[in-house]
Amino acid sequence: MTSGFLRIRGGRPLQGEVTVRGAKNVIPKAMVASLLSRDKSILRNVAEIEDVGIVSEMINLIGGSVKELGDGILELESRELKSVSAEKLESIAGKSRIPILFAGPLLARTGEAFIPELGGCQIGKRPIDFHLSALRQLGATVKAVPGGLHLTAERLAGCKIRLSFPSVGATEQVLFASVLAEGVTELSNAAIEPEIIELVALLQKMGAIISVDVDRVITVTGVSELKGFDHVVMTDRLEAASWALAAAVTGGEIFVRHARQLEMMTFLNRFRQVGGAFSVRPNGILFVRAGELIATALETDVHPGFMTDWQPPFTILLTQARGASIVHETVYENRFGYTETLRQMGAQIQLFRECLGSKHCRFGHKNYLHSAVIVGPTRLTAREIVIPDLRAGFSYIIAALAAEGVSTIKNVNVIDRGYEHFLGKLSALGADILEN
Ligand code: UD1
Repeated sequence: MTSGFLRIRGGRPLQGEVTVRGAKNVIPKAMVASLLSRDKSILRNVAEIEDVGIVSEMINLIGGSVKELGDGILELESRELKSVSAEKLESIAGKSRIPILFAGPLLARTGEAFIPELGGCQIGKRPIDFHLSALRQLGATVKAVPGGLHLTAERLAGCKIRLSFPSVGATEQVLFASVLAEGVTELSNAAIEPEIIELVALLQKMGAIISVDVDRVITVTGVSELKGFDHVVMTDRLEAASWALAAAVTGGEIFVRHARQLEMMTFLNRFRQVGGAFSVRPNGILFVRAGELIATALETDVHPGFMTDWQPPFTILLTQARGASIVHETVYENRFGYTETLRQMGAQIQLFRECLGSKHCRFGHKNYLHSAVIVGPTRLTAREIVIPDLRAGFSYIIAALAAEGVSTIKNVNVIDRGYEHFLGKLSALGADILEN
């Protein structure tokens, strides 16, 4: 774990190699998937991130076990599961959004589930209405109780569910709650992010019958029992993109070991378009800045669009690009809070309530500052920075690396939630980190 405080002197190009391991947005979900079976499961390429600890703790509390076998391998087993009151899960409360996904496996195996209060990055309201509505449609009763939620279901039964937005979490919720349900579940307007397809593949290994059909339809045919799995988690495409952007912003060169082209194609197109260059190698991707950075207009979207988690670090790159760039955030209504600090560092960024992009999004006629115009290139100057959330956190680090002078960064441990050994990697790439 990183200490909470860091001082970085900007201006030095990052050079070298980083290894990126399993995806933060898959590992905890795969751990939850193991609860669908009484067998042992093995999960490989597990990065040391905070969610692993939180999910392990919750699995232990409900009667399962998680063993670290070393070298990023976890052994998970839950022969008997028990439902535990929300009060007993208090140590988990407010730390992560993953516990809501325990609902399906717990309902399938014990008929009830207590879910503690959720946590996670504050980048919008992040409601769970889609999750609860889907669970109700599948036959669950949901009640708010002190400290969380109490769900019960005598049996879960397949049905037709339509999401009003292709939410990643709600799609996972439906997968978990329907694989052991009676009959067929048809989910339309489902998320089809690579992390979801990975989860579908993992569930298929366990014996589930799931087809991903055209037009965002996922069909699950319930089975009565699932086996354990042995699975290698895909590389984290968000971390890989963050290092690519760190290379381009600092004018350096970073080889990201294990970065995979297939899940990053949308990002790679944009990276090249604004003046980044990359070379795809058999075991990773090399990222550099090709020359002058050029402004662009982009909007975030669900897959295969430009991923919202790439948006904050990409915006830092755009502060160094010539001309006026437009970024339209269509996934989270409140994901530009971090730009205030960038403005104080010298960036020229103006936020708008209007949809500045080719399409109108859900936030268009509401009061959300969800479009940004960034004029560059601007010289960034160091300052004291307090990290608010995970993705903004890494972005601030990139900004500090590009800024003139010494930035003091507080609350750095937030970054540990999603970026493994991040301080060690920064030092190995030659970042000018000052002793505290
Ligand atoms: C996951 C990822 C996160 C990524 C996001 C979108 C994990 C651990 N996190 O988050 O990194 O940024 O997908 O790719 O995998 N919504 C509702 N009601 C709901 C659920 C969602 O209105 O019940 C809204 C959200 O407020 C948001 C949008 O749907 O505006 C997308 O959220 P969702 O795809 O569910 O994100 P997460 O699964 O939380």
